[in-house]
Amino acid sequence: MAERAVPERVAAAERLASVMGFKKSCIPEVGRLLALASAAKPQGTIAESGTGSGVGTAWLHSGLGVGARLVTVERDEELARRAAGVFADDERVSVLTGDWRLLEQHAPFDVFFCDGGGKRDDPQGVVDQLAPGGLLILDDFTPSLHWPPRFEGAVDELRHFYLTHPDLDAAEVLTTPASSMVMAARRL
Ligand SMILES: C[S@@+](CC[C@H](N)C(=O)[O-])C[C@H]1O[C@@H](n2cnc3c(N)ncnc32)[C@H](O)[C@@H]1O
Repeated sequence: MAERAVPERVAAAERLASVMGFKKSCIPEVGRLLALASAAKPQGTIAESGTGSGVGTAWLHSGLGVGARLVTVERDEELARRAAGVFADDERVSVLTGDWRLLEQHAPFDVFFCDGGGKRDDPQGVVDQLAPGGLLILDDFTPSLHWPPRFEGAVDELRHFYLTHPDLDAAEVLTTPASSMVMAARRL
């Protein structure tokens, strides 16, 4: 059976990643979930920390409702400038340049793909930026057969924090046999 088509803007952001030698873009398995989350909040405020070349942004954009807006932040000025070009024709999208904390002024978020800044250095600050019912998406975990989850022989305290947070309903989802993501919804 044929591969499912990748949205044109995702392809454009992937080409930009290739030109810039950027190797940290999200994989399509994660991208499809980003599109789904965005589509689930058609009037929502959708956020991303760590734009990179805009691949994750483009997946979020592919599910973006007409009444929604999408804000993403990247601290690398060149990446932010070039990624902004991928979305220049859509006023629902803002690409900010600087630290992830610039996002705060746009919170609360109905979807937050936390992929560069915040995830590790301020996990409670990340949870605080979610609207009630807001979805949090974190990728780049390694599946673990143990509870609490372990990574490289030690308890993965960060993953444990998100999976057991009292304000979140959270689940770990396999994205490939060797990678996983955490998806969570903030309780009302
Ligand atoms: C994993 S990559 C992002 C990939 C992108 N979200 C995607 O799905 O294609 C992480 C990005 O976060 C950026 N970054 C890291 N720390 C940051 C911070 N504190 N504030 C803003 N951007 C940050 C890095 O420069 C890098 O481009």
